[in-house]
Amino acid sequence: MENNNTAAPQRKPVVFSAIQPTSVPTIGNYFGAFKNWSNMAEDYDCLFAVADLHAITVRNEPAMLRKQTKEMFALLLSLDLKPEKNIIFIQSHVPAHAELSWILNCYTQFGEASRMTQFKEKSQKHADNINIGLFAYPTLMAADILLYQTNFVPVGADQKQHLEITRDIAERFNGIYGNTFAVPEPLIGKSGSRIMSLQDPAQKMSKSDPNPKASVSMLDTPDMIVKKFKSAVTDSEAVVRYADGKDGINNLMSIYSCCTGSDFDAIEREFDGKGYGEFKLAVAEAVISNLKPVQEKYNKIVNDAAYLKECAAKGAEAANYVSGKTLNKVMKKVGLLLK
Ligand code: TYM
Repeated sequence: MENNNTAAPQRKPVVFSAIQPTSVPTIGNYFGAFKNWSNMAEDYDCLFAVADLHAITVRNEPAMLRKQTKEMFALLLSLDLKPEKNIIFIQSHVPAHAELSWILNCYTQFGEASRMTQFKEKSQKHADNINIGLFAYPTLMAADILLYQTNFVPVGADQKQHLEITRDIAERFNGIYGNTFAVPEPLIGKSGSRIMSLQDPAQKMSKSDPNPKASVSMLDTPDMIVKKFKSAVTDSEAVVRYADGKDGINNLMSIYSCCTGSDFDAIEREFDGKGYGEFKLAVAEAVISNLKPVQEKYNKIVNDAAYLKECAAKGAEAANYVSGKTLNKVMKKVGLLLK
């Protein structure tokens, strides 16, 4: 038998994900994305980015966008993402993202991009600014992912369609030019992949919801968190159980499950005979203790401009190196003359 012990160590699977710096992330982002990112940080080769180029598909106040980008970057450094071994960076610091996205635009059909539900929703919401960037949003996302030969993309359920088009683009390109990109798999968590608004549990919890009681931000104080959960919309049955027609309670149970790891049966047993008031308080407390270490680290580093700058430069350098290899390969394949 051949001795395989001398074989080169296997490359770890690559994980990529990103978040837009639109405002302070909610617990939807935390449970739908960040928690899963942290869980993968040890065992995979991970890249996590602040997607500032995606953010300019809608109008922003420039100084505010810069501030939010810096704060989102500080927040990523406050999660347990193992920055000593993984790459954490700001998308616009790595020009290959914009360059590859242009090339991928030329391999994406108008019809398939037109089917993206996020494009349809955002065009309605920003009817005075339906720009080409908004339309090409998914090809920039595909570039983000494909540049790193990504195997897994941990995201919330709302990004599923963007992952499907990314896979289609990768397979099409590989079909024409031979193996160029790894074809990525979305990783969508069982609980937490769709945290709903506390005021209208039929709607996704969103950073941009104008009703402040609808969403819990990752930087809310314990008092604010308790208040928001106390006023969460529920139903009149007063029994903590997961069932159709109980969207508010189902959502609170999902949040509690993400915080504690308990499944729905265990939660039903834990709160058997107890009222909604007690349950809401328990959910609030579980959220507060989940967020506490992140908030503490964030408050320590967010005003340390030198540290943030140094981390951003380090992340950009590493991401530039890895992405440059894929970009060169792609440029060669499509017939662009290399320098
Ligand atoms: P963004 O900034 O809207 O959200 C970041 C992540 O949070 C998840 N998420 C949620 N999960 C559960 N419940 C919710 N209510 C909720 N709201 C948001 C999102 O699914 C996402 O995983 N286009 C992306 C950013 C992006 C990206 C990428 C993601 C740019 N390039 C490449 C993955 C790979 C976005 O706008 O996410």
